[in-house]
Amino acid sequence: MQLTQLASWRKLDSLAQQMRTRHLRDLFAADPQRGRRLSLELPEFLFDYSKNLVDDEVLVNLLQLARDADLEGWRAQMFAGAPINRTEGRPVLHVALRGALPESVPMQGAPVEALVESELERLKGFVNLLHNGGVTGCTGKKITDVVNLGVGGSHLGPQMVIEALRAHRCGDVRIHFVSNVDGAQLADVLAPLDTETTLFVVSSKTFTTTETMTNARSALRWLGGLGSTEELLRRHFVAVTANSDKARAFGVEPQRVFQFWDWVGGRYSLWSAIGLPIAIAIGFDGFRALLDGAASMDRHFREAPLEQNAPVLMGLLSLWYCTFMGYPAHAVLPYDQALHMLPAYLQQADMESNGKSTTRAGEEVGYATGPLIWGMLGINGQHAFYQYLHQSPEVVPADFIGSVAPGHDLPGHHEILLANMLAQSQALMNGVSREQVEVELTGKGLSKEKIEALAPYKVHRGNKPSNTILLRTLDPRTLGALIALYEHKIFVQGVILQIYSFDQWGVELGKGLAAALQPQLESGEVSGQDASTARLIEYCRQATAGAEAPLATG
Ligand code: F6P
Repeated sequence: MQLTQLASWRKLDSLAQQMRTRHLRDLFAADPQRGRRLSLELPEFLFDYSKNLVDDEVLVNLLQLARDADLEGWRAQMFAGAPINRTEGRPVLHVALRGALPESVPMQGAPVEALVESELERLKGFVNLLHNGGVTGCTGKKITDVVNLGVGGSHLGPQMVIEALRAHRCGDVRIHFVSNVDGAQLADVLAPLDTETTLFVVSSKTFTTTETMTNARSALRWLGGLGSTEELLRRHFVAVTANSDKARAFGVEPQRVFQFWDWVGGRYSLWSAIGLPIAIAIGFDGFRALLDGAASMDRHFREAPLEQNAPVLMGLLSLWYCTFMGYPAHAVLPYDQALHMLPAYLQQADMESNGKSTTRAGEEVGYATGPLIWGMLGINGQHAFYQYLHQSPEVVPADFIGSVAPGHDLPGHHEILLANMLAQSQALMNGVSREQVEVELTGKGLSKEKIEALAPYKVHRGNKPSNTILLRTLDPRTLGALIALYEHKIFVQGVILQIYSFDQWGVELGKGLAAALQPQLESGEVSGQDASTARLIEYCRQATAGAEAPLATG
């Protein structure tokens, strides 16, 4: 039966109409236990989903929809290594990277866990050697700085995790990231570094990504006169890739090529050798703890009943808003400085996965799929875009994420931070009614006329839903669990909406066009281009030639 014809789907469609007339304030007033009933305590965090615009009937039907869409069957297939990424003909086994498979899966003639373990052992050996000063450059000096060259999944995960786990850093090797093909970034990063003591990690699943390969070639040039090209590549380069042949052909020494596999999606790859910078930053044991945290979430996702399953509930709530309630965006608002890159990381994870419009049956979807994910550190956002969250007519559901324990020992700060987080979700939920505004302004002694004029601007409709995730503390294990929570949330949403979450054909189009446009930018030959692109190329050519570019055409 078609998804949209399911009884649960149709019921949810009609419940969404009713829910638009309800208010969160009333849902809380009607059920003093709502905060306890609609929250889950896991070993790593508390997941409070009580401030969502749902009642029991909505939740029952969302869970029924999950069952009707065979979420449990698809979940079992993923963990069994079935080729559920059908458009690319591959399994989806990032869960194998953290040792979370219930049963062994054969892959390339060996149990997948043996492949994973042997690569982890190689990684561990390299990280320990580096920490012990055993990795040296062409001139024999020990490596002090590692520059990761990679973009998208080969960048965001490792950098986000390293930033998040600053308090857990060990060793004294410094780590830097270059993702942009804009040479300004590479130039900035390299400026203070010493060629003799710098090591480049070329991180690329395909080892063909233009941005990364261009940066790798420029890095090689920067090392310049230190030694022969072969020597430079041997001593100053490491590769992390699913395309070892290409890395070796580039000139990276085979023992320095760390492998992962095509059954690991780029945006799900931080658990693989792509996590090398993480292992360098927090030590191999810390990296293991990150994997263990993710494995604990994998177990929860696999084993907990759907009604008490955090990623299932999170995915269903996101689907409820995006697909049924018609709220197209979702904000990620961390209240922990260390998590400042989480919104950007989740943007790729979620939007590259579920930004699709073709069903598994090859048809155009007739409904909204994933939301637009955006956000930034909540406390900074409060002084930037929260005005929109509070008083624009749009509803943007949000995730508030904080940790109970501070990551520093400065007195007084953490209470203010957490109080702000709680205050914001409360304000979004309750709003301020006209009556409350009038009472407030009367108390301040304003005249009736002034109150009449000012009150409409001070009313907050409220009824803006949110989740709150309260980590016990931000450490490798908790962070692993948090990231895996979101990974499975994305899976839940994709499976139910019958889209393929693990391909990314949409990013290929622009790559092809850029490759064709590059020579045209150089030559100025614009035949075949649309009038806008031709004009832009012409302007670039004029400006580079130093010719005065007209500000406007007549
Ligand atoms: O942007 C598309 C994409 O393919 C991402 O999925 C991936 O993480 C990124 O490019 C980098 O690709 P690669 O690791 O192959 O260089």
